[in-house]
Amino acid sequence: MIIFKTAEQLHEWLKECRKNGITIGFVPTMGALHDGHLSLVKNSKSNTSLTVCSIFINPTQFNDPKDYEKYPVTIEEDIYKLESNDCDILFLPTARGIYPQDADRKKHFELGWLEEILEGKYRPGHFQGVCMVVEKLLKIVEPGVLYLGQKDYQQCMVIKRLIELIGMNEKVELKISPTVREKDGLAMSSRNMRLNPEERAKANSIYETLLFVKKNAANIPLDELKKQAISLLEQKNFKVDYIEIADAKTLTPLKEWAHQTQAVAVVAAYLNDVRLIDNMMLNN
Ligand code: PAJ
Repeated sequence: MIIFKTAEQLHEWLKECRKNGITIGFVPTMGALHDGHLSLVKNSKSNTSLTVCSIFINPTQFNDPKDYEKYPVTIEEDIYKLESNDCDILFLPTARGIYPQDADRKKHFELGWLEEILEGKYRPGHFQGVCMVVEKLLKIVEPGVLYLGQKDYQQCMVIKRLIELIGMNEKVELKISPTVREKDGLAMSSRNMRLNPEERAKANSIYETLLFVKKNAANIPLDELKKQAISLLEQKNFKVDYIEIADAKTLTPLKEWAHQTQAVAVVAAYLNDVRLIDNMMLNN
């Protein structure tokens, strides 16, 4: 695996690869890699000829400065895991490299109501920060295929919109990989490292609650079902930001269940100061 630390060197190197007809698969991450991230690397490895992974803890997407300070950093283990999965290139930029000027941290993207709901509502500015960094990374790497995880459902929709906004939709194909879970159902997340053993033992209640929603979506009125789901989580000491049942294509909340509409349940909740998110498709 080749490690690049500057955008210019990586960009030049990839330009040569592209000239030789090589398709580039790109997996952007913030590190503290787990099997969820590695599933994206594996997907890229099996479908493209060159896989680039980036690790950059992007300061502009943290609406909570404490979350940024506590974000896990495990760079040596990450490099080892990427090497073991035959990742071809790791891009490890610095904050100065990504945001050379202050103005780079102020760009605004017209995301419409996508950033007013759910994660957008509870994490103001978060998706603007995600777009700032992903635009930069896409322009440096210019991948043929971008690999994202369904774990961050709304982020996938935001990045799809970003790709259209920056006019790269003809060049970049978006591939979304299913959420990888621990044995007890907890969605893998870098933030899980911050759970103490007691919290970890309760954390899979998010998954259990999503299964409960899925099982009952056609039988219990959705408002009542959401109340019951919140109560299940509160019994395990979660503080729920939201639980919503929405149209899977638009994220518009559903008032009532309709079999013909593909629906998704999305949830965000705190266990003490660790915020966890998850989602589940409800129709299949
Ligand atoms: P990060 O949280 O490190 O996630 C990187 C990628 O891994 C995202 O596409 C995310 O959806 C995917 N992922 C995380 N957990 C997963 C799981 N359990 N199963 C499958 N995929 C999973 O998301 C970000 O970083 C950042 O916002 C980023 C896009 C890199 C921009 O800074």
